This record gives sequence, C-alpha cells and structure tokens, in this order.
Amino acid sequence: MRLRKLIHDPYKLLRAMRLREGHVLLDIGCGTGFLSLPAASIVGDRGLIYAVDVSDKYLWRLRQRADRLGVKNILTIRTRAEELDGIPDNSIDRAVFMLSLHHIGDRAEALSRVRRKLKQDGLLMVYEPIASRMLGHGTEPSEIIPLLREKGFEPQLFEKGLLFWTAVFTPL
Ligand SMILES: C[S@@+](CC[C@H](N)C(=O)[O-])C[C@H]1O[C@@H](n2cnc3c(N)ncnc32)[C@H](O)[C@@H]1O
Repeated sequence: MRLRKLIHDPYKLLRAMRLREGHVLLDIGCGTGFLSLPAASIVGDRGLIYAVDVSDKYLWRLRQRADRLGVKNILTIRTRAEELDGIPDNSIDRAVFMLSLHHIGDRAEALSRVRRKLKQDGLLMVYEPIASRMLGHGTEPSEIIPLLREKGFEPQLFEKGLLFWTAVFTPL
C-alpha cells in the first residue's frame, strides 16, 4: 500500500476532484478503500462516503480497516456499478471510478446510473490504466470520453500519463 501511494497519491487525486468538508462522495468499485479512507478524513463528520463494490471480501476488509481507525462516515454497500442500489438520486457531490471502470461489464449503464446520482454541481473523476500500454488491461480515453459525453458528462480536465489517464467531468 505504501509503494502504491507513491504511484497514485490519493490526496492528489482527491484535490484534483476538489473534495471538501461536508461533501458526499461515491467511490465506485472502492476495493479495500484506497481512496475511501483518505476521503473520509477530508469530508469529516458532516460528510459521507458511499463505498460500493461487488466484492463482499473487499467491502469486509474496508469495514475492518475503517473500524480499526474509528472512521464512522463510510457506508459500505454491495451493489454493481450498473445498479447503484441504495444511493439516492441527486445526492452525490463527487463520484469516482478509481481503476474500476475497465472492470465494469456494462459501462454505458454504469455511467447513466452515476449521472442520475450526481448533483447538478457535482463532479465525476475517472482514473484508468491506458489499455494499449498495459497489455490490454485498462481503457482508452478516446473510447471512454465520447461515451461519457453521450451519458451527459463534459470533460473539464484531462491528463494522459505514461501508463494511466485521468479526467474530471461535470454533468451537462
Ligand atoms: C482494480 S480494483 C480497484 C479498487 C480500488 N478502487 C482501488 O483503487 O484500490 C477494481 C474494483 O472494481 C470492483 N468491481 C468490478 N466490477 C464491478 C462492478 N460491476 N460494480 C462495482 N464494482 C466492481 C472490483 O471488485 C474491485 O474492487
């Protein structure tokens, strides 16, 4: 985890999406909480993290880590990105797919769902491996950004690094 933080600084990503105290963040495909845990310390007691994943094992590990640290503002929910059950519409200030979008079977449906959950002044961040530079494991921004536009998102910030790409979107 420490090595990983050198490669992907979670606080840098959370700053790029302008996460603030009191915000409600939806971490889609949260895994064991690489972003959810640092995000919880930023949003504080007045904010909330919805940490969603299809894996009971990862959600359980995240729950354990949060409990050990006394973190009370993370709600773990087992749901598919294509469903987002338990997340109220129009309730999310920030949503993020951190290395998870390429795992999702029906990306178009997942993006439609997240659009419904996001407030009009909300932001969505996508952070992905570049498929052509990672032996096919990832996505190409040239395919995903048009899909995001189709689903009601406008890119505000885009960066393509050596192995990863990241973008921040506002709802149209
Ligand atoms: C590479 S991991 C990234 C985990 C975490 N975001 C991180 O950066 O450490 C991808 C995650 O996406 C989850 N996932 C895969 N398909 C999903 C789906 N359809 N809906 C929600 N989560 C999904 C996996 O269970 C896994 O936790």
